[in-house]
Amino acid sequence: MYIGLDLGTSSLKAILIDVNQNVLAEHSVPLTVQRPHDGWSEQDPQSWVSAAREALGAIRARNECRGLRGIGLSGHMHGAVLLDAEDQVLRPCLLWNDTRSHAEAAEMDADPGFRAITGNIVFPGFTAPKVEWVRRHEPEIFARTAKILLPKDYLRLALTGNHVSEMSDAAGTAWFDTARRDWSDELLAVCGLSREHMPRLVEGSAPSGELRDKLAIELDLPSVVVAGGGGDNAAAAIGAGVVHDGSAFLSLGTSGVLFAANDGYRPDPATAVHTFCHAVPGTWHQMGVILAATDALNWLSRLTGQSAAQLTQGLGPVTAPGRALFLPYLGGERTPLNDAQIRGQFLHLDHATDAQAAARAVMEGVAYAFADCRDALAATGTTISRALAIGGGARSGYWLDVLATTLGFPLDVPAQGEFGAAMGAARLGMMAATGAGAEIATPPPVARSHDPDPHLAPAFAEAHQRYKAAYAAIRNL
Ligand code: XUL
Repeated sequence: MYIGLDLGTSSLKAILIDVNQNVLAEHSVPLTVQRPHDGWSEQDPQSWVSAAREALGAIRARNECRGLRGIGLSGHMHGAVLLDAEDQVLRPCLLWNDTRSHAEAAEMDADPGFRAITGNIVFPGFTAPKVEWVRRHEPEIFARTAKILLPKDYLRLALTGNHVSEMSDAAGTAWFDTARRDWSDELLAVCGLSREHMPRLVEGSAPSGELRDKLAIELDLPSVVVAGGGGDNAAAAIGAGVVHDGSAFLSLGTSGVLFAANDGYRPDPATAVHTFCHAVPGTWHQMGVILAATDALNWLSRLTGQSAAQLTQGLGPVTAPGRALFLPYLGGERTPLNDAQIRGQFLHLDHATDAQAAARAVMEGVAYAFADCRDALAATGTTISRALAIGGGARSGYWLDVLATTLGFPLDVPAQGEFGAAMGAARLGMMAATGAGAEIATPPPVARSHDPDPHLAPAFAEAHQRYKAAYAAIRNL
């Protein structure tokens, strides 16, 4: 048996699988995000540890876990957990969608060393500029910082007592030499840091330590190996079997991700595509990332007082794009804009725009943002011919129809089951415990496919052009 723990932005999920990768149990614990100022997004790392204990306890309560052999970890990327020399958390974690450090990020990005070594733009959401923000705005905290951990690696510290990270998540820090799969001493030095501040590195499929005895006794679990694991996108790819060159997934989660696996390192920072290590050795991946996917629909749901299900129920078959246009830049945007200051927009509202029309506009706007990611990936030479659709938003067939027609390739929906980051984490746990490799990360059976509608495609392509023109027109307002 293996456990996968996925630290998501809105919940922590644990799953238990058997040796044949059947899911035996799962348990989720909700988490909250604090947004004390515009552009800020924080979480209390202690809430992750409590959630992990609760989830592991719930799994154990329902299952005899004597056969447990490994645990794998996955988590939202780029967060900065600052620890003092006694491993005490010094301040709330600055999350992946926190854009307060846009000035620091722009400054770092202007130093050509960062793009050359990391293969990526220094986005405000990445770890290094956020820590630079702390250095400038909270110098007493920076001075006391002894270690900096990514979110799931802080969970690992709680579980194993070890400071360890792995390649896929470390690649999202802006301190990482992505080609060589190692920290960059040069980039760390630019930020007033050294390797001493960083955790040790392992591959995602390799062991990183063992469950601490005290915790094992408390939870009544065997003291098993904990795998390196992966950043949530790399872990989701392991869960969805997206490891071989040319395979891809589209994730409709809090953020939106169009992810392609690569057998080599293919950076192209100018496109704002992210190029990171994959969670298995010798592989990399590229992805376009938008900051608000289901997050945009959830925002509309709070605004209207109607649940996402209420807003989207009764949407019949997809017809032509609606008149209202939505730009989902609620907290700025990464691919392809790298614009932390742009904010969401509704355009072309009229008397007939009701909550349902607004919901359609939000779903279409997210689809156009994905079309921008498709184009950015294509500019690097990566063309996607079909993709698995995963994440909470993929439960909406309407949204997938709009996306397939806008993107021009089919989206495959996995048969019922668990194929996300928690499954990827459990699979990485299995690899670390058994020495297995990418061969156990098989793609799921496909329940149905959403094909592009050739009759509607020109209208959606035209609407995508309108969407791009709208950004160009309003970006400096
Ligand atoms: C990827 C990114 C998000 C987070 C949260 O670069 O910022 O996808 O990992 O899911």
